[in-house]
Amino acid sequence: MEENSLNTAAAALRHQVEAASLDSAEELEHFRIRFLGQKNGRITRLFKHIPQLPPKERRDAGRLLNELRTFARAKLEAARTSVTTEEAAVQGLDLTLPGRSNQWPGSRHPITQALAAIKDIFIRMGFAVAEGPEIEDDWHNFTALNFPVDHPARDMQDTLFVEASDQGTGGVMLRTHTSPVQIRTMLAGDPPFRLIAPGRVYRNEAITYKSYCLFHQVEGLVVDTGVTMADLKHTLFGFARAFFGDDVRLRFRPSFFPFTEPSAELDVWWALPEHPKGGRWMEILGSGMVHPNVLEAVGVDPERYTGYAFGMGVERPAMLRYGISDIRTFYENDLRFLDQF
Ligand code: PHE
Repeated sequence: MEENSLNTAAAALRHQVEAASLDSAEELEHFRIRFLGQKNGRITRLFKHIPQLPPKERRDAGRLLNELRTFARAKLEAARTSVTTEEAAVQGLDLTLPGRSNQWPGSRHPITQALAAIKDIFIRMGFAVAEGPEIEDDWHNFTALNFPVDHPARDMQDTLFVEASDQGTGGVMLRTHTSPVQIRTMLAGDPPFRLIAPGRVYRNEAITYKSYCLFHQVEGLVVDTGVTMADLKHTLFGFARAFFGDDVRLRFRPSFFPFTEPSAELDVWWALPEHPKGGRWMEILGSGMVHPNVLEAVGVDPERYTGYAFGMGVERPAMLRYGISDIRTFYENDLRFLDQF
């Protein structure tokens, strides 16, 4: 084909495109296939002649055909909009109405946001993330963590039992803390360990503004040669400054847990303008050096390895960070509360 005849063919096609009627979905589809179809569309087919033209004519021919194709597409799109609107009108829909403005985009729950921020800080400090089951057995939740069967420390963490325990052994329960994940990960691998384990935990608690029967924790575990309490304190203080800001007031206070020795808790100052003392301390985590009995229970040599562990709440740090005064609001699903995040 020569340029002349290509021009003629293009002009003829343009007339056909102009004349085509596009009043229904069928006509639209027919038009699309006839002119613009991938293989045999009339415009598409003309493009295939370009390579046969003398090189200096190809550019003009290409431009001409591109224009024709754009023209056909525009006509198709314009017709498509009016055909769909008309068909919708027939079905009683008016597509020209403005959109609904009360559609909420939604947002992540403040607990999810706090958890993500906590994880992010520890991941940057080189911690891996592990998980364990929420339904736990007595051995992982208590015994392997150095809670002897009749030890009163078990009473500090009463919970909901799925299967009754036989004097504290063999029971199945909703886990009271994330510490059993320490046991599961150490059993599954070899030191060194450096991980956090976020998740939900359950307790038979008196429900107040700062305690609930369900809450979240992030466990931390580091086991290696030469790990000391200084490493623990450094990590926790570094975390607290990253999470609450550099001017946070912290108190590191001795405590007791069967599975750590020595043990300590970390409190954060909660400034409350109406409070007589201007605020109060809020405990956010328990921690300590992993007890040698725990390392022995999972086959790690306590003569060779030492480690630290911590278990921090998520709700309380979230309350402090976002200025929430009652833990129960997290679980009520009241949109007036959730909307603020
Ligand atoms: N598991 C303890 C609790 O829930 C917290 C803790 C974890 C303390 C790790 C020491 C070490 O109270």
